[in-house]
Amino acid sequence: MQIVAPLEIEDYVIQTADFMSPPRWHIGHTSWFFETVLQAHKPGYRVYSEDFLFYFNSYYEGFGERIERPKRGTKSRPTVKETVAYRNHIDEQILAVLKSPERLPDAETVLSLVRLGLEHEMQHQELLVYDIKHLLCDQFDAPLKPLPKSPIKIEGMAEIEGGLFRLGYERAQSPRSRDFAFDNEKPAHQVFLHDFAIDKAPASNGDFLEFINEGAYQNFRWWFSEGWETVNREQWRAPLYWELHDGEWMIRDFSGLHSAASRKDEPVSHVSYFEASAFAKWAGKRLPTEAEWEKAACYDARRKVRTAFPWGDTDPSSGNSNLFENDFWSVAPIGAFPEGANGYGCQQMIGDVWEWTTSDYVPYPGFKSEFDEYNDKWFVNQKVLRGGSFATPQLHIRATYRNFFHAHERWMTSGFRCAKDLATD
Ligand SMILES: [Fe+2]
Repeated sequence: MQIVAPLEIEDYVIQTADFMSPPRWHIGHTSWFFETVLQAHKPGYRVYSEDFLFYFNSYYEGFGERIERPKRGTKSRPTVKETVAYRNHIDEQILAVLKSPERLPDAETVLSLVRLGLEHEMQHQELLVYDIKHLLCDQFDAPLKPLPKSPIKIEGMAEIEGGLFRLGYERAQSPRSRDFAFDNEKPAHQVFLHDFAIDKAPASNGDFLEFINEGAYQNFRWWFSEGWETVNREQWRAPLYWELHDGEWMIRDFSGLHSAASRKDEPVSHVSYFEASAFAKWAGKRLPTEAEWEKAACYDARRKVRTAFPWGDTDPSSGNSNLFENDFWSVAPIGAFPEGANGYGCQQMIGDVWEWTTSDYVPYPGFKSEFDEYNDKWFVNQKVLRGGSFATPQLHIRATYRNFFHAHERWMTSGFRCAKDLATD
């Protein structure tokens, strides 16, 4: 509710593209998720409104009929006022349940569903930031703070030794504050990696400007066939939110319109998998696999142990990573968080931009679904992104977190860093 507080009432109901949702929908949908818990587990619970169940369901076949996603902005009802009243009602009901969970027949299940509901709500907090950016961008009066300066210049690649690596989430290995993980991060399992190198920094706007200026969006040789089709069909010439003004590339964000050149030291964002892959090929590199990314992010080669985050086992803070609590509403310059670097010298693996990997979003070996239709039904035709963005809440991110989007999507805060094979004899 703090995120939507600066909105005017008209802003809550507009849908500016098929892929985004009106803010009113997010604030009702996150409560709808909790209402499904009440329906299933609170004896005698009466549904608030059948109409709301229809409007606020996202994609769950198991919870009945729902409005199609592209039509969420075609209805003015429920009104914003009604949606907020619904939200308050569900909050009260859930808080009452949490006060004395022992009265429920299946308290443990309910508590784990409430935790899932909170994680779900944090995912929608981040989606709200993307959607408000699409809706209003530089007209949204977010509480912006000046961006930090980078004390250091980050260049080059870190070389990382291969061998067996244990990929995924293990509760026993995690600090207490990271006692939750989604089912798709489990089970942890051994994978084999070859020696590889990975960029110490994410690709920057300056790097991407060179790629554009060399005519890469007009040259088929860098692109996957599907990517090249998309570039031509959608007339892509640059990342989303880049605009050409009098021959100069400008980037529009929450703080206005800036020349891309003045933001050349910030990570590039709003690129699709197609664009990230084309850049990597143009640069003579490739994108990392998610296992390579996770090893780079978590493995402490000096102590030969795995840590929860690149900087160790302490929680994310505004000093070690640019996550939502920093209130920047923007990526920060590369090198602005030296405290967050790992032992290999890789910067900003957590926060700023989600990083595309080459890995398909498929279940890990031994995967067990913990909630129907949450993660398990999306295991096809999507790519994994890692690390969180400036819109991800601190409590929500983990180095094992697997986000996933289709290869053409770019309205989320997506960037990348490149990797490379190390020469073998
Ligand atoms: Fe959802």
